[in-house]
Amino acid sequence: MASPIGFISTREDAAARVAYLFSETVLSVQPNLKASPSVGFQHALDQMVFHMVRGIVTKRGTLPSIYSVRHNADPFLTAVEELGKTAFLSITAASSTLPAAITHLAKLAKYPVVIHVSMSRSFADFSEIISLRQLGFTLIQSFSLREAQDLAIASHILAIRTGKGVIHFFHQPEGEETPIPFEDVSKLDNVVYRSALVFGVSAAGIVANKGHWNDTAGDIDSKSSMGGTAVDKTHIAQSNLTHDLTRVDYRTGDLFHAAEAVFDLIRVALGRTYKAFDYHGAGNADTALLIFGSSAKDFITAIGHAGSGNIYSKVGVITVRIYRPWSVEKLLATIPQSVERLGVLEQVHCQTTKWGPVLLDVISSLNSDLSTTAAIPVVGYQLGYLDSETIGQALRGIMQNIQSKTPIQNLLVGGPVSHDVDLEYHLSQTELETAYSKMLYSVFGAKLSILNSLDSNESGIPRTISSNPEYGFGAYLAKEEEKKLFVYKLQKAIKANVFTNQETKNLVLRWLLLSRESSSKLSEVGVELISSLESDSSEIARELLKGKAFLLGTTSWIIGSDAWSYDLGTSGVHNVIASGKNVNVLIVDSQPYTARAARDASHRKKDIGLYAMNYSNSYVASIAVYSSYTQALQALIEADKFEGPSIVIAYLPYNEETDSALTILQETKKAVDSGYWPLYRWDPRADESGLPNFQLDSQALKKQLKDFLERENHLSQLARRVPVLGENIAGSYGSNLRSQQRKKAKDAYSKLLESLTGPPLTILFASDGGTAENLAKRLHRRAKGRGFGAVVMAMDDFPFEDLVAEENLVIVISTAGQGEFPQNGRNFWESIKSSTDLDLNSVNYAVFGLGDSHYWPRKQDAVYYNKPSKDLNSRLEILGAKRIVELGLGNNQDPDGYQTAYLVWETQLWVALGVGGVDVFVDEPPPLTNEDIKIQSNYLRGTIVEGLNDESTGGISASDSQVAKFHGVYLQDDRDIREQRKASGLEPAYFFMIRVRMPAGVSTPAQWLAIDRIAGENGNHTFKITTRGTYQLHGVIKKNLKSAIKAINAALLDTIAACGDGNRNVLCAGLPHNHSLHEELTSYAREISERLLPRMKAYHEIWLTDGNDERKLVAGNAAVDFEPLYGASYLPRKFKVAIAMPPYNDVDVFAHDVGLIAIVDGEDKLTGFNVLAGGGMGITHNNKKTYPRTGTLLGYVKKEDVVVVCEKIMLIQRDNGDRKARNHARLQYTIDDMGIDVFRQKAEELLGFKFEEAGAFMFESNIDHFGWVKDERGLNHFTMFVENGRIQDTPDVRMKTGLREIALAMKPRGEFRLTGNQHVILSNIAEKDMPVVTRLIAEYKLDNLRHSGLRLSSSACVAFPTCGVAIAESERYLPIFISKLESYLEELGLRHDSVVLRMTGCPNGCVRPWLAEVAMVGKAYGAYNLMLGGGYDGQRLNKLYKSSVNEEQALELLKPLFKRWALERKEGEHFGDFLIRAGVVKPTLEGKTFHDDVAEEDDE
Ligand SMILES: Cc1cc2nc3c(=O)[nH]c(=O)nc-3n(C[C@H](O)[C@H](O)[C@H](O)COP(=O)(O)O)c2cc1C
Ligand code: SF4
Repeated sequence: MASPIGFISTREDAAARVAYLFSETVLSVQPNLKASPSVGFQHALDQMVFHMVRGIVTKRGTLPSIYSVRHNADPFLTAVEELGKTAFLSITAASSTLPAAITHLAKLAKYPVVIHVSMSRSFADFSEIISLRQLGFTLIQSFSLREAQDLAIASHILAIRTGKGVIHFFHQPEGEETPIPFEDVSKLDNVVYRSALVFGVSAAGIVANKGHWNDTAGDIDSKSSMGGTAVDKTHIAQSNLTHDLTRVDYRTGDLFHAAEAVFDLIRVALGRTYKAFDYHGAGNADTALLIFGSSAKDFITAIGHAGSGNIYSKVGVITVRIYRPWSVEKLLATIPQSVERLGVLEQVHCQTTKWGPVLLDVISSLNSDLSTTAAIPVVGYQLGYLDSETIGQALRGIMQNIQSKTPIQNLLVGGPVSHDVDLEYHLSQTELETAYSKMLYSVFGAKLSILNSLDSNESGIPRTISSNPEYGFGAYLAKEEEKKLFVYKLQKAIKANVFTNQETKNLVLRWLLLSRESSSKLSEVGVELISSLESDSSEIARELLKGKAFLLGTTSWIIGSDAWSYDLGTSGVHNVIASGKNVNVLIVDSQPYTARAARDASHRKKDIGLYAMNYSNSYVASIAVYSSYTQALQALIEADKFEGPSIVIAYLPYNEETDSALTILQETKKAVDSGYWPLYRWDPRADESGLPNFQLDSQALKKQLKDFLERENHLSQLARRVPVLGENIAGSYGSNLRSQQRKKAKDAYSKLLESLTGPPLTILFASDGGTAENLAKRLHRRAKGRGFGAVVMAMDDFPFEDLVAEENLVIVISTAGQGEFPQNGRNFWESIKSSTDLDLNSVNYAVFGLGDSHYWPRKQDAVYYNKPSKDLNSRLEILGAKRIVELGLGNNQDPDGYQTAYLVWETQLWVALGVGGVDVFVDEPPPLTNEDIKIQSNYLRGTIVEGLNDESTGGISASDSQVAKFHGVYLQDDRDIREQRKASGLEPAYFFMIRVRMPAGVSTPAQWLAIDRIAGENGNHTFKITTRGTYQLHGVIKKNLKSAIKAINAALLDTIAACGDGNRNVLCAGLPHNHSLHEELTSYAREISERLLPRMKAYHEIWLTDGNDERKLVAGNAAVDFEPLYGASYLPRKFKVAIAMPPYNDVDVFAHDVGLIAIVDGEDKLTGFNVLAGGGMGITHNNKKTYPRTGTLLGYVKKEDVVVVCEKIMLIQRDNGDRKARNHARLQYTIDDMGIDVFRQKAEELLGFKFEEAGAFMFESNIDHFGWVKDERGLNHFTMFVENGRIQDTPDVRMKTGLREIALAMKPRGEFRLTGNQHVILSNIAEKDMPVVTRLIAEYKLDNLRHSGLRLSSSACVAFPTCGVAIAESERYLPIFISKLESYLEELGLRHDSVVLRMTGCPNGCVRPWLAEVAMVGKAYGAYNLMLGGGYDGQRLNKLYKSSVNEEQALELLKPLFKRWALERKEGEHFGDFLIRAGVVKPTLEGKTFHDDVAEEDDE
């Protein structure tokens, strides 16, 4: 290490010096010299100490402390112990020391600890790093000497600023490199100082500030503390940092963003740029190799040397610098668009899983939702030993394989690495995929003893016997005997003093001592003893060497399949647990999640984990290697350390050996995310060290487990309250406690029974929308009032086995789908339908059904009417139950809806139950209406704050979710997994949708970038352009909600009234070609929006103050709230305003409560507006009292009066709208009920002037016009097609990334206009910016010429999976549906003809389907009402052509109509107009006649 003074020549030296400067304490882990010789951190540290170099973070006058700890002395435990004593701790270590320390590392990851890790010089095993990937560390890799220094600095800054652990790792090549100067300390000082500014000290905080680090905001101006170096403030202002982190909140865990920001600091301070991923090679490469190993550089060189025009000219290499957090976005951005295939090379010595972890990272990145097959084929390789000679050959092999039609996965490239351990017992788990046994092998090596497998020489015992746990347990007992004998021999040898060498004798004594304590150090002493025995020439030494395995202290495992869990009793698992012996059982469950239901339900699998936990003496863990490798590793190590039985249940779903990586990932993800297979670790003794017994490592928990934990929690509380019980709990886990438990449960049950006076009555309901549920609950209150011991619950919550014992059973059930059972009644129905031997003779029952006889109006569909109630009614009868009241059939079509039949039925029920004459007054709380909620919310506060702080649920209360809408926030859940989560006893996977208020849809590039970032950090990485021309974010979980809204506000946008009963976002024409008119109209849109904005203070209070803000609302403060326009109850429903500029009707001006049509004079100057009122799109299926309506023309007003006109119309609606029936509350009904003349008159009275005669206008279309136009100033505008408004990256088109690049290029003067048709206009692009913008548009495939006219004119609402009321697919389905029509249209020569096609997932009409020429409106899953004949100009409503059609029927109906249009249309005649002329449907001339003249009349 003889570098010149001030110079460094190894990466370890670089990292160690930086660690020294940035730490109070450095722990130098002394390597296992055999595994990684001469690791050089220590040398550099010694040098620093020798020269008494001052640190940057130490207290004045003190130097950093350096501790050396031997690798086998549990060094990372020392680190954990240091945590409380030292603020700035770093560790230097060789990678080989990490995997065994995983449990300590899990703790260290939560602190600002930096670990510098050197990979072995010769052939590093990267799995030592990979196995830590799920611990929460940021994992940063450096690739050169200089980089090692820079990134060491970055790692420390990152740890200090985020308070979280960082592992900086690198491969240390053999020998020294060309020396480089060590970075000047004052520069480092400067970086620290800048980082305080960038991170905002008060926001991020210096986690470990103990008073001697002085960079609080007030202190940093003059000097930073450590070197006393003055830092020039102007520096900061000049620095062109691109990451502004002042708003980052580390509670959101956005470490990746922070790491990038620190890299940015490094760039500014040290002049070197680092990225998460690097790409080396040709921009037009067709093959990319992502290399995770030490030979990446050699590959890059080999490819480079081959020169251009050679076979590798189209091969590129990707290297990973930030390995964790893994950034999907950055990876996708790194892979050139031209790449057609991707190789992933992982340098691991022993691959434990069939697919390498990095390969899995890449596969899931290319399929972020794991729902599709990868667009680019990915081939994984195991990277073996290579040197510069063999690299070329390796590359050829890689390329041959990857280019072949059927590439081989997992091909080993280079020389294999041999393991220098002999396995005493070979693995023979042939039926099971061997991932877990390999893992055991790699963790425990020679220590591993698998008890229930056969060595080949033991054949003769059938496998069925040898593989079962009893056999394994027997083998364990036999081994114990053998071991006893061995220990006896050792003791005898000591006594006889037969060893020739004193050291051997000492080691034997130490070993004997440790073996009594079952110490983890046993194997270390064992290794030394073995080598000592080997050099001992005595006879006995040779004899003892036969027991090598005992000397090493084996870890004993029994491995088996989940078949064992079908019968615990005879399987022997029970024996193992009951024995209390130190045996580990690993049970691999391979049943794929999606196949689980197919199993014979009567043959129920027991939950071994739960069973073992009940026993309270066993370590229990549930793991899934393809979900969290790190957690699995942690569990295996803990199981081994646990003195006593350990049961590890391990998930590895597979159907067959050939299952793809994606399939297994998908199955595992489903099982873990749904809570079916929770990841957890249970250590019954952890509480002795003050740690929790139960550690949940995945998000979701299955119901039984939750119940168990609740019971445990209850027990520990009980133990605290009742000391005698406590003693029992602490003293033994035996029968005493269990009988106490049983007694308590019994007492509680008897109490419950006592409280149920009167005859029992069980009321069950099944309901999707809540009507049946509310009805059942009301019935329950009434039953109690009549003296019944009544209970009420959802059908599926009822323990089905108890059915036979019921005396009186009442079921209230609605109808879902097409005659289907509601979600929460399906299991009950499945059980009762398939039970043939159930005897319900002693059960009295009554059923009331809710349905709609017109939901499926065709004659042949009549069977669906109230089908579940009818089916259930007859099934109960067949099983012998006694019907006490005839089936009641509630029908939405009856005069009072379901109430008509219900009142009769309920009266009969009381008579049948013998309480007909009982007249009781039951104090029934009236149902809480939206109006009540608004008034009680105290000007829109509700209990949102409390709800946000409630960590027991991911949602908020029902009433708060109504209130939250006024704040632009909607509670939603993942509909795709709702059922699975329910089946697992979990609440829905809640998250929030956030909608932005942005009048006229105009935003700056900076705002676009902000939304893009917020969607990535807080949402589901995509966002949507809505039909009100604004941004909508999805998938924001509760804990990120506030920071997301704060960030939106920081971008000078807000979300006020973007949803809820107020004025929604004001929509305005896009008008790219006319700048001055657009600007004027936009200013009106903004003014209207501001004027009609709720003034609520709650918004600021809830979202924009931080936790410690004192400005809290106190009781009585409400008086200062004042809503001049709205009052405390706001509007009856939502209210919408839109501005159009003829001839473009891109905003669908007829569809809004107020539609404003701009009128210009002969010189194109705006004079005023024609005002339309009463447009509206939301209806309820089968309710003819609801209908879509186009706005009625009231007349013309001058432009200066238009704001007040909007206000007065809104006030009329506020005071006259229907506040009882929400589906009759919109202005459209107010106007029709009042009559248009009265309405106009009222408006004129309020205004004090009259509407003038309307100006002439003409609309051409309601679509967007794509492509480039120039405005009168010569600036350019590009209207871009965004399919259904969704901004996302897909493997085909990286739209989100592309638009981000464009936004960066357009900054600061460009504009992003969002249109009401869900597209975007890139606006105000100067000529000089055109080359770059056009290049980016082409590069990211964002031009529109490829699409058909039909697709360009189409739009879909969101619907599944996020919209809570969707009943059919829309956004995810419309593109597919269109594809099925396109080729046909092409044949007809209609490819470029525009046809307005709109689809929604329910009749709420979010994309204004009723104005489309063709619309598909969701009726049930997979079924749509087909609407035809809307006007192309957006002025005529369409009409029902055929109800509830599926895809096939829709295509069959549409194709001939398109054909006729192609053949018969007049010049320029649009499809909608043609359909009317041809008489296919009748025109709908006004909303009221929407349901008239329908071709397909109801059959009933
Ligand atoms: C998507 C959907 C499908 C329906 N299908 C039927 C049906 O097939 N037969 C029927 O009688 N009623 C049907 N209905 C009507 C409902 O059963 C009825 O509105 C009921 O009151 C809803 O009760 P709930 O809120 O408890 O779910 C359907 C309603 C919806 C929303
Ligand atoms: S139309 Fe219906 S399904 Fe579609 S987004 Fe609106 S409410 Fe949801």
